[in-house]
Amino acid sequence: METLKDKCVLLTGATGGIGSKLLPLLHYAGARVFITGRNQEKLAALSASLKLPAQQMFVADISQQEEVTALKNVFFFCI
Ligand SMILES: NC(=O)c1ccc[n+]([C@@H]2O[C@H](COP(=O)([O-])OP(=O)(O)OC[C@H]3O[C@@H](n4cnc5c(N)ncnc54)[C@H](OP(=O)(O)O)[C@@H]3O)[C@@H](O)[C@H]2O)c1
Repeated sequence: METLKDKCVLLTGATGGIGSKLLPLLHYAGARVFITGRNQEKLAALSASLKLPAQQMFVADISQQEEVTALKNVFFFCI
């Protein structure tokens, strides 16, 4: 069966109701989860709770094309 071990996952809305529940499931399944949202404090707290590497956290507003492009450019180094 395909596993998530070492797969790169970009989780938008990571600090929200769905995202914050999905994050530990993906993390403990072995995925490298990149988290994003607009609020730096909420992202930092979530990231710290799982000791994610700093480079897997991005503050971005995905309603803004240039921020999505920047996010894509960083994330593509993972995959
Ligand atoms: N809950 C449900 O049962 C359900 C069912 C079907 C569909 N949905 C949909 O699934 C999505 C997530 O649901 P949820 O309950 O987890 O919502 P939520 O608790 O309101 O969380 C929304 C998340 O999206 C982030 N976000 C909002 N606008 C953003 C933007 N412009 N750029 C980047 N990040 C943004 C928020 O973080 P920041 O505010 O820090 O940016 C937060 O992490 C929503 O679109 C919802 O309509 C939910």
